[in-house]
Amino acid sequence: MTIDIEPRWRIPDGAGRHRGIGIVGCGGIVSGAHLPAYRAAGLNVVAVHDVDLERAREVASAFGIAHVTESVEELIATPGVDIVDVAVPPWIQPDIVPVVAAAGKHILCQKPFALDYATALREVEVAEAAGVLLSVNQQMRWAAGMAASRDLIAQGALGTVFEAQFQLSISTPFQLWPWLASASRLEVMYHSIHYLDSLRAVLGDPVWVTSVHGRYPEQHPVLGETMTKTVLEYADGAQALVAVNHYNLHGEPYAQVRFLGTTGMLEGTIGLLYDYPRGRPDSLALHRDDAQARTYHFDTMWIPDAFLGPMADLMDAIETGRQPVTSGRDNLGTIAIVQAAYRSAEARRSVRVDEITGPADAPA
Ligand SMILES: NC(=O)c1ccc[n+]([C@@H]2O[C@H](COP(=O)([O-])OP(=O)(O)OC[C@H]3O[C@@H](n4cnc5c(N)ncnc54)[C@H](O)[C@@H]3O)[C@@H](O)[C@H]2O)c1
Repeated sequence: MTIDIEPRWRIPDGAGRHRGIGIVGCGGIVSGAHLPAYRAAGLNVVAVHDVDLERAREVASAFGIAHVTESVEELIATPGVDIVDVAVPPWIQPDIVPVVAAAGKHILCQKPFALDYATALREVEVAEAAGVLLSVNQQMRWAAGMAASRDLIAQGALGTVFEAQFQLSISTPFQLWPWLASASRLEVMYHSIHYLDSLRAVLGDPVWVTSVHGRYPEQHPVLGETMTKTVLEYADGAQALVAVNHYNLHGEPYAQVRFLGTTGMLEGTIGLLYDYPRGRPDSLALHRDDAQARTYHFDTMWIPDAFLGPMADLMDAIETGRQPVTSGRDNLGTIAIVQAAYRSAEARRSVRVDEITGPADAPA
């Protein structure tokens, strides 16, 4: 078997790039990631809305956006808006999704798009009933190191993958984001969710989730868990570990990813998390016992570059009549793992994912 080890990751070059975007919520991630990525790609942002109108005006002025609206309804009614990027905290998104869906507009939600599985399922069903596409901005799948890893694994570069590891010891100033600092569920809900979703993109859905959560002794005023260890077990015996600590206050941080297979191993770093939010490009090395071992170099960053991925994919999906890669329906699998992780940590036991989804939706 010949393995083409040149990674073939790409951001879909959908013909739907002409479609107009309206954005609800003009907070940190929109000004720091969504809009820089959309501007670099020449996407057409028609209108923005935020309950903080002043904030919306500032963002519109900084990015040359023509319309600032006083309500979601006005945003949806602005001529040229085809897609609504819903960039508000997760407990607000379920109120906005039905309004947007009823107007026949396609939707890009943020992760997590709900705080519990039943609410996420309702959002998916509302969008499906209205005949609009709903995608979730799990943009790590488009970050260079992760996209390359997924492509290499899909080409068979590692043989059969039997283990994956995300191991991070970083410093995250959660207190800078008041609503994150006051969230009772924090680390898995808002951070490890990226790794859990990326693992699903490579290994599929696990059967079992075991998670242990803790807090750094001096983390006040940050309320939720900041040290987590989550283990996923798959039907074929594969295992994955996501081990994260956000209080690496002494010495260098690390953010390492490994995929171990029967014929090779991928070893990478998540560059963004070294000196966040400036960061550095991801690194990735393929280790094999033959001439196909090599190191990859990237010139894009998770923030902002990967943020083009879910939007461009949604545009392409609209145009070609397929589901987005990170559709809400797909993302129910990620939400289910997150919920299973909290149930596991609280009950101090392993949790089958179908305890959350119900047997009908459980992975085979
Ligand atoms: N890498 C990632 O995928 C990533 C990173 C950061 C944040 N996020 C997600 O993006 C979303 C926004 O996060 P953020 O960091 O920008 O938060 P933020 O607090 O900086 O911004 C949220 C904005 O939403 C506005 N808002 C609140 N309620 C609203 C409503 N009902 N209608 C209109 N506007 C409203 C607020 O005024 C604020 O400007 C969250 O869901 C978060 O989880 C994702």
